Amino acid sequence: MCGIFAYLNYNVERQRSHILEVLFNGLRRLEYRGYDSSGIAIDASSSSPVADSSTLHPLVFRQEGNIESLVKSVYQEVGAMDLNMEESLSVHAGIAHTRWATHGEPAPRNSHPQGSGPGNDFLVVHNGIITNHKVLKETLLRHGFTFESETDTEVIPKLVKYIFDQSSEGEGGQAATFSQVVIEVLRHLEGAYALIFKSKHYPNELVACKRGSPLILGVKEFAEDDDGGFSSSNGNPKELFLSSDESALVEHTKRVLRLQDDELVHLKDGRVSILKFSSDRGRSGGVLRRSTSVQSALSVLEMEVEQINKGTYKHYMQKEIHEQPESLNTTMRGRLIRGGSSNGKNVLLGGLKDHLRTIRRSRRILFIGCGTSYNAALAARPILEELSGIPVTMEIASDLLDRKGPIYREDTAVFVSQSGETADTLNALEYALDNGALCVGITNAVGSAIARKTHCGVHINAGCEIGVASTKAYTSQIVVMAMLALAIGGNTISNQSRREAIIDGLFDLPNKVREVLKLNQEMRDLASQLVAEQSLLMFGRGYNYATALEGALKVKEVALMHTEGILAGEMKHGPLALVDENLPIIVIATHDSCFSKQQSVIQQLHARKGRLIVMCSRGGAASVCPGGASRVIEVPQVEDCLQPVINIVPLQLLAYHLTVLRGYNVDQPRNLAKSVTTE
Ligand code: F6R
Repeated sequence: MCGIFAYLNYNVERQRSHILEVLFNGLRRLEYRGYDSSGIAIDASSSSPVADSSTLHPLVFRQEGNIESLVKSVYQEVGAMDLNMEESLSVHAGIAHTRWATHGEPAPRNSHPQGSGPGNDFLVVHNGIITNHKVLKETLLRHGFTFESETDTEVIPKLVKYIFDQSSEGEGGQAATFSQVVIEVLRHLEGAYALIFKSKHYPNELVACKRGSPLILGVKEFAEDDDGGFSSSNGNPKELFLSSDESALVEHTKRVLRLQDDELVHLKDGRVSILKFSSDRGRSGGVLRRSTSVQSALSVLEMEVEQINKGTYKHYMQKEIHEQPESLNTTMRGRLIRGGSSNGKNVLLGGLKDHLRTIRRSRRILFIGCGTSYNAALAARPILEELSGIPVTMEIASDLLDRKGPIYREDTAVFVSQSGETADTLNALEYALDNGALCVGITNAVGSAIARKTHCGVHINAGCEIGVASTKAYTSQIVVMAMLALAIGGNTISNQSRREAIIDGLFDLPNKVREVLKLNQEMRDLASQLVAEQSLLMFGRGYNYATALEGALKVKEVALMHTEGILAGEMKHGPLALVDENLPIIVIATHDSCFSKQQSVIQQLHARKGRLIVMCSRGGAASVCPGGASRVIEVPQVEDCLQPVINIVPLQLLAYHLTVLRGYNVDQPRNLAKSVTTE
């Protein structure tokens, strides 16, 4: 929900056009986080007709719509102001924001940067939510501030201005440092936030901080100081970037510092200071975070620029569907062992090794997640129950919290989240931690909140997923949870052949996914038959109940077609009433222990003249639907617990082609955002 970005350059002559492009590109990378409005703030240099001679003058541009509408309007306005785009600026602090509306409709006044009032002394971009904004607003109104937006964010720049004015007066005109002012502001804020502050009182400085929402500092060509910090004193060219995620940094630098909760960075005169803030510290608040070298705290991004480009594909979703053979390989790399001896097949999940005994002794395992991540866990539940013998319960994160469902110290709670940031899942994690459960994280984002706050976990290593509809993360999540089941379930004589079959199946899975991707054209044809439909049903059971739910979620979220995933066992308890010769129904009936039950479902639907599209194992069309179906999708057969990985692929392709044919935005579906960081 919302992406924030900032760019600061020292000792590198950069033209204004370059600075704008860096900010726009940052926003383009983050656009998947929200795309209903955006904005930037840059400086006009003293030579500009809009700046006075002594100070930099902030220019703020905010626009409803996607990033390209902002780009267009900025160039128009900048042109009208007669700012020289080729003018070289040796220091420049620019901030930027792309928004997914929570408080207030998408409109320029509700877009960020939000300002402190006339003159925009302080500007703020924010990702997250300020839960006590109403109380703060009332106080600020009493102090004479007026508000122009409906956002929760607007209280922040106004509060900074108020505190800055107070501190200047109280200290005989001697203003506090920028970070001191911000730390004082943070003492009053409740909620979750990643924030970047810019001010004309502190030209060429930026302050940024985080609690809850992610924020990463990117450092380009900095060298270490004698005192263990890092700064510009040796004259190296330097550029600093702040971003909600790494995808906006990788084209500039691979050296990053992932800020932790309650940390603040102050970027000033080419020096980076990292402070720890906390609400119970005094006015001076903030202590130096590390006694050792800040430089050593930098980590190296593993991401490559190619990962965030579309390559030869038209859309990220399309690319990510077709990448699945490779992403699955990466997920399994180094984790599967297939030795020569009969018991040489095993699974190694390094992140769990110290906790496996505790997990095996759990009274219960809870799978907790939202949306696609929940569906992936549902697909893996049967194999975990089978191999571990431990009861597994499924929890949608928000529902667990709504009910305050009981969680005990003897439970293992597994949190599944692609982004590792989803607010509902994160809140459920806090709840499980409070209740003493062992918490395991399964995420795709190294350093994400869920990865950090859980006791242990497994990264799915699916690579950066940019399309808002999750595809390759889903299949990698299932594979990780199948490996989790193998790791938890003991290697006994009775289950040895089953374990080996699953491990062999995992090794071969990328090849099988490659085969099923060949259905692309067939799914495009099916999409053209279904393009004008209002509704679609998908029936699945057993391992493939999750496939029905996930297939339906994909079609509804990107193709904007009403689609319902239904547990086939429930068909006669209501959904059968919908069946007629018009409504298309996809029945998943690949070969597994539920096959004969699915055959009778198909017969019952056929008897009611249902318009059937049947997914079956390759070569099985005649046996699965003797009465005939309007269409059959034949897929390669794999070990039953891995079949959901195969079966979802044609449905992902169907959702993709339906979306293209219906003319909707594939990568940025209406009203959605990639990571949902508000409840
Ligand atoms: C749908 C989709 C969402 C997410 C859900 C949870 O394609 O991507 O349903 O799965 O918002 O997100 P994460 O996995 O990041 O916790």
